[in-house]
Amino acid sequence: MAVLLPGGAGYIGSHTAVELLNAGKEIIIIDNYSNSKPEVLEKIKQITGKDFKSYTMDYRDKEKLEKVFEENQIEAVINFAGYKAVGESVQKPLEYYDNNIGGAITVLETMKKYGVNKFIFSSSATVYGDPEVIPITEDCKTGGTTNPYGTTKLFIEQILKDTYNSDNTWDICILRYFNPVGSHESGKIGEEPQGIPNNLMPYIARVASGQLEQLSVFGNDYNTPDGTGVRDYIHVVDLAKGHVLALNKLEKEQKGLYIYNLGTGTGYSVLDMVKAFEKSTGKNIPYKIAPRRAGDIATCYADPQKAKKELGWEATKTLEDMCKDSWNYIQMSQGKE
Ligand code: WQD
Repeated sequence: MAVLLPGGAGYIGSHTAVELLNAGKEIIIIDNYSNSKPEVLEKIKQITGKDFKSYTMDYRDKEKLEKVFEENQIEAVINFAGYKAVGESVQKPLEYYDNNIGGAITVLETMKKYGVNKFIFSSSATVYGDPEVIPITEDCKTGGTTNPYGTTKLFIEQILKDTYNSDNTWDICILRYFNPVGSHESGKIGEEPQGIPNNLMPYIARVASGQLEQLSVFGNDYNTPDGTGVRDYIHVVDLAKGHVLALNKLEKEQKGLYIYNLGTGTGYSVLDMVKAFEKSTGKNIPYKIAPRRAGDIATCYADPQKAKKELGWEATKTLEDMCKDSWNYIQMSQGKE
């Protein structure tokens, strides 16, 4: 029985594919490579020494998706597919709603048709909007998302809740990621944003490598210890391991709807990240203070106790691991040892 990974060649998907294979699971990756590269599949095989099937396709293509379900014994789906650039989503809302929500609905309808009830969804801390309470627990209010990307996550969560309420034989787990960063220690897979990175860590890594001149710190007048934005950065391998434990939970429970924050429970500011990266890598990160970025919030970090209690999961990698692994990946991808 295989675990189907729509978007499995992407940043989070590829790291989760590695951990699922390491845990002895059979996987199938489907991807259209709109924000990833086919070469990643070979890297996953090199890291794990394991083989797996893959299909090049758009997860919204119902005919092709049904063929995947007909040709394989699928036990669960972990959906990583979807566009995820906050700024781009403001410019292209229709593409984001069509791809992220349309794709999720196609997957769920196909699962229903083939009697597959285990679904794990890549959600995001953005569903909390500007959080009222910090650290954030899963029962904190959601809504007030500040961009279409975050709103697609919120809407898909609602679709999952309504689907479960209509038929509680579904076995669903919603994982709310905080800020995924870092790369597999091999340096073979990592975050490969196309063009200029929107996110902090890949931007810092490209300043360190000389590809970008300096970091713009988006505002230092927030109500935070040093005035810059505070976030819960979590190593992508810790995040990936959380998916294996979430799958174990669904296999044990057989039905239900579960929601977990996957974060470390510690918030770091932008300047904390700059200092940590410099200390971990010995690289200098020149920066300037720039105006605030529209849609940004001051502080966001998790209370991860529920995942620890119910999944037996907690993040173990340090900020130094996150910085070193990010730096290692960019060096390896530039062909430098
Ligand atoms: C972090 C902090 C910025 C870039 C978003 C999505 C979330 C997830 C991760 C997809 C903020 C500051 C950033 C820069 C900066 N997306 N910053 N200069 O906005 O917390 O979360 O990305 O999976 O769902 O909402 O992450 O890395 O963009 O920003 O000063 O060049 O770094 O203001 O305080 P964010 P981020």
